Amino acid sequence: MLLYKKDQITDDENIIILGKKDSDFSPWFKNKNELDYLKKRTEEDKKTLTFNHLNRIVLVQILGNQDKAYYIRLEEARKAACSLHRQLKGFDADKVCIVNGGITDEEVYAFAEGLALTNYQFNRYFTKNNLKEKTLTGIGILSEKVSEENINRLNIIVTAVSKARDLVNEPLSYLTAVQLAAEIEKMGKESGFKTEVLNKRKIESLKMGGLLAVNRGSIDPPTFTIMEWKPENAVNEKPLVLVGKGIVYDTGGLSLKPTPDSMDYMKCDMAGAAAVAGTLYAVAASGLPVWVIGLAPATDNRPDGNAYVPGDVVTMYDGTTVEVLNTDAEGRMILADALSYAKQYDPELVIELSTLTGSAHAAIGQYGIVGMGNAGREVFDQLKMSGEHCYERIVEFPFWDEYGELLKSDIADLKNIGGKYAGAITAGKFLENFTSYPYIHLDIAGPSYNKTTEEYRGKGGSGVGVRLLYDFLLNHTR
Ligand code: BES
Ligand code: ZN
Ligand code: ZN
Repeated sequence: MLLYKKDQITDDENIIILGKKDSDFSPWFKNKNELDYLKKRTEEDKKTLTFNHLNRIVLVQILGNQDKAYYIRLEEARKAACSLHRQLKGFDADKVCIVNGGITDEEVYAFAEGLALTNYQFNRYFTKNNLKEKTLTGIGILSEKVSEENINRLNIIVTAVSKARDLVNEPLSYLTAVQLAAEIEKMGKESGFKTEVLNKRKIESLKMGGLLAVNRGSIDPPTFTIMEWKPENAVNEKPLVLVGKGIVYDTGGLSLKPTPDSMDYMKCDMAGAAAVAGTLYAVAASGLPVWVIGLAPATDNRPDGNAYVPGDVVTMYDGTTVEVLNTDAEGRMILADALSYAKQYDPELVIELSTLTGSAHAAIGQYGIVGMGNAGREVFDQLKMSGEHCYERIVEFPFWDEYGELLKSDIADLKNIGGKYAGAITAGKFLENFTSYPYIHLDIAGPSYNKTTEEYRGKGGSGVGVRLLYDFLLNHTR
């Protein structure tokens, strides 16, 4: 357990005291000189103070700018935690206790979350120990009203995000489609959700033409992983279905991407599938009373003698024919089959996440998720609210039918690319053709992978989507 509740401070841990500018810190400082110094410096608007004691370091962090929206304050707490994590690392700290010295519980959680997320490392491939960074092994929380249940929940969420990040950070040399399915099965066993993996033969017999077309250039078989969490006390009668793009590597196929810029990080093209698996892990491990199904179609996308070519016409799982005009628009080919497959569940709602378009990335950068859909105002607003709460914010793009007209083909029911503009939207509209239920499409191409460190979200895979979807599902049970 990385995060746990404490009811007193012990000798072996460092201390972070969280307070407001006018908080009374006297219960935590026996030494009057220190207290006077603290008072003086906080009055001068100093936000972080460091006290070196014999056996530990004591940090004071001032939070809670009341002029700002609550969710901005929570994000400031996470970011403050990230910068204190760096300080603690400098002191070789092992364990730390967060003490609530007068802020809200929500802020305490957010701070603890930021600290725990910053603690993440992907070091599986370092063979020399000195390349692994020192991390915290324990984060205690000392705050009267903070419940054990909520701390456990936070611990599970942080673990789930780390697992999603691990999956994104794993290169193709390890994480093939078959291995992705195996990793998801492992996550299911650990947390309690069920998994079924459809292999190539099964995918062929089901005639999932989109997934098979993309897989034709690959030397590895595709997989289609079905996850399910169906507790007896579920609040919903129809399942919520989550669909994630599982392109374990995207070279673009014969419409090859140029390297270095656009291909180097394309191991991240399964971040949608990672987010879905991470969410199911968190939902199952915390026993949320909600019926959720996850679908992860997976393959890599490469050029090869047998690869699908621009101009090909592919018959999809639902019988729709698609003229392929760019083999780099492969995500929508495999997702279309998964979305058609979801119809059999008669879902209450389907949320699909994918690193779908450079266009979404170009429009808003790494700071948010591009969302669109036809699921209705209320549910979309709930999802957006979750986005603000956990700061995985969603920007809603239009979903007008005119964009769909750009996908008309001369020789088939649809073509797989639209025009020069609005690429993120035409991609979403393409997918809508394969749905028959309330649908939300989230394009995570921007925030899924950070080329430079983004505060507590880190460098590399960010695990975006897990905290968002978990928060949404948690609210759904309330
Ligand atoms: N995987 C890419 C999208 C992407 C871009 C993800 C940047 C993460 C970061 C996707 O398969 C793709 O190549 N999309 C094309 C679509 C185009 C050919 C219509 C794109 O956005 O250029
Ligand atoms: Zn592509
Ligand atoms: Zn892709």
